[in-house]
Amino acid sequence: MHLHKYEKIWLTLGLGSLALFLLIIGFAAFWKGTHPQSHIETIDPQNVEAYEAFKPENLGVREVADGKYIVNMVASAFNYDFGTDIDEKAVKTIRIPKDSTVLYQITSKDVVHGFQVAGTNVNMMVEPGHISRYETVMKNTGTFTVVCNEYCGVGHHQMYGTVEVYE
Ligand code: CUA
Repeated sequence: MHLHKYEKIWLTLGLGSLALFLLIIGFAAFWKGTHPQSHIETIDPQNVEAYEAFKPENLGVREVADGKYIVNMVASAFNYDFGTDIDEKAVKTIRIPKDSTVLYQITSKDVVHGFQVAGTNVNMMVEPGHISRYETVMKNTGTFTVVCNEYCGVGHHQMYGTVEVYE
C-alpha cells in the first residue's frame, strides 16, 4: 500500500496527538488523582430533603471524625444553601482547619450549576438528579471563593460562597 507523503504526516500528527491526550489523561488520573466526582448516584431534584445529607439541618460543614469533615450543600438558581447558623441566618462561609480531609457533597434542585472553590482542586459540575461528591485535603490556608462556573441563568454571577481554611 502506497501512502502519500502528506497522508503520512497527517496520520503521524493524528496518532501523535491521540497518544499525547491519552498520556495527559493518564497523568491526571493516576498521578494527580483527578477523577469524576460522582458515583452515578441519583436523587429526586424535587425532593432533595428526602436524602439524609440534604435535610436542612444537615447542610453546611460538620466534623465527622478527628480531622475529617463533610460539607453538604444544595445548589439552586441562584444560591448555594450551606444551611443556617444559630441566628437562623444563611451561612455563606465554611470554616475548615488546615490539613483536614473534606468531603464535599452537593446536588441541584433545578438546573446544572458548578461548584468551584477557586484556588483549590475542588471543581464539580452539579446536575439535578445527581449527587456530586469530591473528597480532598485542604492543604493551604486562606480564604477561597466559591463560584458557580456553569452558566445557569440571569443570577449566575450571584452564586457565591467562601471557604476559609485556617491554621
Ligand atoms: Cu449556578 Cu451559574
